[in-house]
Amino acid sequence: MPQIIDGKQISAQIKDEVKEKVAALKAQGTMVCLAVIQVGADPASSVYVGNKKKACAYVGIESLSYELPEETSQEELLSLIDELNGKPEVNGILVQLPLPGHIDEDAVIRAIDPKKDVDGFHPQSVGALCIGQPGVVSCTPAGIIELLKRSGIEIAGKECVVIGRSNIVGKPMAILLLRENGTVTVTHSRTRDLKEVTRRADILVVAVGKPKMITKEYVKDGAVVIDVGIHRNENHKLCGDVDYEDVLPVCSAITPVPGGVGPMTIAMLMYNCVRSVELQ
Ligand code: GUN
Repeated sequence: MPQIIDGKQISAQIKDEVKEKVAALKAQGTMVCLAVIQVGADPASSVYVGNKKKACAYVGIESLSYELPEETSQEELLSLIDELNGKPEVNGILVQLPLPGHIDEDAVIRAIDPKKDVDGFHPQSVGALCIGQPGVVSCTPAGIIELLKRSGIEIAGKECVVIGRSNIVGKPMAILLLRENGTVTVTHSRTRDLKEVTRRADILVVAVGKPKMITKEYVKDGAVVIDVGIHRNENHKLCGDVDYEDVLPVCSAITPVPGGVGPMTIAMLMYNCVRSVELQ
């Protein structure tokens, strides 16, 4: 029977560890405060932002909420970020993505003080990650490393294959696995004979963005399969990028959707808020 990696349980454990750290900081007179900015009212973003604020309340991090209208100009958003950069009592700044089309996301990410970049999206955070210097690491890939470590899965020396090369997941994932001494291959939409490559993986991280695309034909016997995708199927049930029922009999460990990678992202955001206080 494969190991079902319980992201709900592991994320709860991490949030409890963060809660203790926040209390210890508070006892020393240091408050932790996260500013959360949402532009527009995309329903999925509203759910994510709501969950982030709930997690803040649970661990004892103060959250400031900025819900800006869809038609907010880039200038107005940059000016709010600038104001928050200048506030010593604000430790973290999170701008929920995606932003409306008229706003340049890269310019917004660059405007956040790297010391307050709790998403780990700023070029300085990404650069620090690449060369192994202290910094904040993007929440989802950082959460996947925690899932593997806390499930007793060794990374060093393993063949690790990442499907997807996004700035938020695929690229930082590859660098983190490399940092843990995995042998890493990154695949993408132009990869030739994808199955051939993914069947080499001891650890397969799937962030492809297509519901149930990864069937057992892509998976080596005994592989660990990490599913980053989240979709609603034709019956409105949540599913991942991996065809869970199909892959389950061949893998040695797998993350379910929901309850796998998803809850880790918010737990790591809480961790990053405390981390940014330490970096400050
Ligand atoms: N939108 C989807 N995922 C994320 C995330 O991790 N951070 C932010 N800021 N926006 C997102």
